[in-house]
This record gives sequence, C-alpha cells and structure tokens, in this order.
Amino acid sequence: MKKSTVSPITVLLVVAAILISYYSDVSSAESDPDPTPAPWPHQFHSILFVNFNGSLSLIDLWYDWTNGRNFNIIQDQLGELLYDLEWNNGTVFRYTLDGDKKKCSSALIDVGILRPNWLDGATYLGQQFIDGFHCNVWQKVDFIWYYEDIVTKRPVHWVFYTGRSIHVMTFEVGAVLEDAKWQAPVYCFDKKQVHDDPASDNDILEIGSKGILREFI
Ligand SMILES: *[C@@H]1O[C@H](CO)[C@@H](O)[C@H](O)[C@H]1NC(C)=O
Ligand SMILES: *[C@@H]1O[C@H](CO)[C@@H](O)[C@H](O)[C@H]1NC(C)=O
Repeated sequence: MKKSTVSPITVLLVVAAILISYYSDVSSAESDPDPTPAPWPHQFHSILFVNFNGSLSLIDLWYDWTNGRNFNIIQDQLGELLYDLEWNNGTVFRYTLDGDKKKCSSALIDVGILRPNWLDGATYLGQQFIDGFHCNVWQKVDFIWYYEDIVTKRPVHWVFYTGRSIHVMTFEVGAVLEDAKWQAPVYCFDKKQVHDDPASDNDILEIGSKGILREFI
C-alpha cells in the first residue's frame, strides 16, 4: 500500500499557519477593547489644584473608602478654609474652624461616598496630552471628563461640565488621615445650625465634587 504523500514540511507549514492565525486572533482580540480607568485605591491622599473660571483653590482630598468617609479640605486663594466631610451613611458636614466666623451646615444625601469603581461605564475618548502627561481620556454621563496617565494609571486631571477643572498635584496611595481629624466640631451638632444653608452651599457641593457627582452615577 502506498504511504501517505503528505511531507513533513507540509505538515509543519499547516501547523505554522494555524498557530499564526490563532495568535493573530488572540492579539487582535486583546488590543480591541477600550482601556478602562483604574479603580480608585481604597485609601489615598491627594492635593488637587482647582481652577474655576480663574478662581483658584487647593483641595486636600482624603479618600477613605475602607472607613466609609471622604474629606475635602478646601483653601480658596487668599480666602476661606472650608472643611467638607462626607460619611458613607449620607451625612455631609461643611464647616469652618476660623475664630469668629465659625459656621457649619450638615446635609443628608441618600447616597454614600464615591465608590472606588465610580468610573465604571465611562466612555473611552482616546489619548491626549494634558498638563504634560500622556493620558487616556474618558467621559462619564456628560458630567465629567477624566484623564489618567497611560503608564502609571494615576489620575492627572478631571473637568466638570461646568468648566471647573481639577489638576492632581500629589497622589499618595495608602495615606490615611488620623481618626481625630475626622471629628466635626461641636457646633455642627447644634440643632439651630443644622439647617443653615450658606449662600455658597451649592458651590461647595460642586467644589467638593462628590455630592453632585454621586447623584449622577
Ligand atoms: C468667568 O469670568 C469672566 C471674567 O471675570 C466673566 O465675565 C464670566 O461671566 C465668568 N463666567 C462664569 C461662568 O462664571
Ligand atoms: C453618620 O456617621 C457620622 C459619623 O459617625 C455621624 O456623625 C452621623 O450622625 C451619622 N449619620 C446618620 C444619619 O446616622
């Protein structure tokens, strides 16, 4: 009986062709999906530089998902130092500690602080240079544009639909503010003050970015 006429070379070529098509499928499947934003670390400290139509402020952000709390300490340029303290049970305190102008307002919001994966579902817009960093860019519900460093995956910048823009100056993963600093002052628990609604209240929500943001996501 005649032996098979298929030469070993032919077999090798066929195998190689199968392997090549398999691996090119795999690599194209891997490069197709859009990148997704890195979830926020469960605890970090960040200094944010904020520009809202030329009004500048610095925010000390202490994000502490582990303990269900989030703190924005907001210094307006040559202005007020404002504390915006948010708990995952929906309570938000906003207060000043300055001598004679002590004030506090509290609010109950029916959602907690931002989840670490709050950017899930954002639309990928591509790559862009911002603040000198090469970033991936996403947009979430016409509300926020978010820029993340392509290599380090750290947030670099975000901007709200209002035009308020945030530049991330430091990003210390794992940094935690000591418990004592999370205690709202006694006058926040004074019933007369609870429903105080400072004129700048809405502004504060937006500067803190979390209250309004939470409602949208
Ligand atoms: C931004 O600032 C300019 C100049 O001060 C002012 O004319 C304009 O109304 C401001 N826009 C907003 C949205 O506040
Ligand atoms: C939420 O937690 C904070 C801190 O423990 C507390 O001061 C506040 O009263 C709580 N709010 C509610 C509605 O339980």
